[in-house]
Amino acid sequence: MDNKIIIFGSGGHAKVVLELLEELNYDIIGFIDSYEKPGIEKYGYKVLGDESLLSLCLQKFNTTNVVIAVGDNNHRRDIFQKLYKLNADLTYPVIISPNSVISKRICIEQGSVIMDGVIVHAGCAIKQFAVINTAALLEHDCNIDSFVSIAPRASLGGGVKIGENSYIGVSSTIIQKRIIERNTVVAAGSVVTQDMPEQVLVAGVPAVIKKYKYSNPNLFA
Ligand SMILES: CC(C)(COP(=O)(O)OP(=O)(O)OC[C@H]1O[C@@H](n2cnc3c(N)ncnc32)[C@H](O)[C@@H]1OP(=O)(O)O)[C@@H](O)C(=O)NCCC(=O)NCCS
Repeated sequence: MDNKIIIFGSGGHAKVVLELLEELNYDIIGFIDSYEKPGIEKYGYKVLGDESLLSLCLQKFNTTNVVIAVGDNNHRRDIFQKLYKLNADLTYPVIISPNSVISKRICIEQGSVIMDGVIVHAGCAIKQFAVINTAALLEHDCNIDSFVSIAPRASLGGGVKIGENSYIGVSSTIIQKRIIERNTVVAAGSVVTQDMPEQVLVAGVPAVIKKYKYSNPNLFA
């Protein structure tokens, strides 16, 4: 197995992904990050340069493995689309913490990351480039679409569906069988008891719609 990998992004989320990769014995080549000076060291590894250098680096180190370690859903999706155009042959391994409890009866697609303490029960499906963050719980038969983030300690009851690109805030709860459509944000600590439409901000206990046509470029500010 090719265990070499390049990390795209070098911020806070990348730092946690990096430690996961170390635990999984990946051979980390370095970071690609256009916001950092090439050649500097971060967390003990080199910033190799921006994305224009990615193909060259992969060639040099004889690997195709990349992890897009960017917490923001839109940004992660944009990077994937850009990289796909640059090089359709890149591979994006699924990264699963050895300190998580994951049923063997789940499907999980390329580029998704499962952090420490996560529990995923039988029948769940996790599409590409999702982030299931620290200590989140996915009960049986949940459906997580592409580029979704489930923040730390969020709990999803059985059969919950989360639409593409949606963000489920830290310590929020979604009761069983509810559907959150695409591009929606569930605020921290909310309890969702009803289906929610696309591109809204919902918050509170029980959660109500606070904003329509919602987009928040500063979700992590
Ligand atoms: C929702 C959030 C993104 C703020 O977005 P925003 O667009 O700036 O929202 P505002 O602060 O304008 O709040 C809009 C409304 O939602 C309410 N609200 C916002 N966050 C809330 C929360 N966590 N719980 C309850 N109500 C909340 C506000 O009180 C306001 O209500 P009002 O219109 O009745 O006065 C932020 O509060 C949040 O929850 N972020 C998630 C953080 C997280 O999960 N981090 C994990 C990182 S790993």
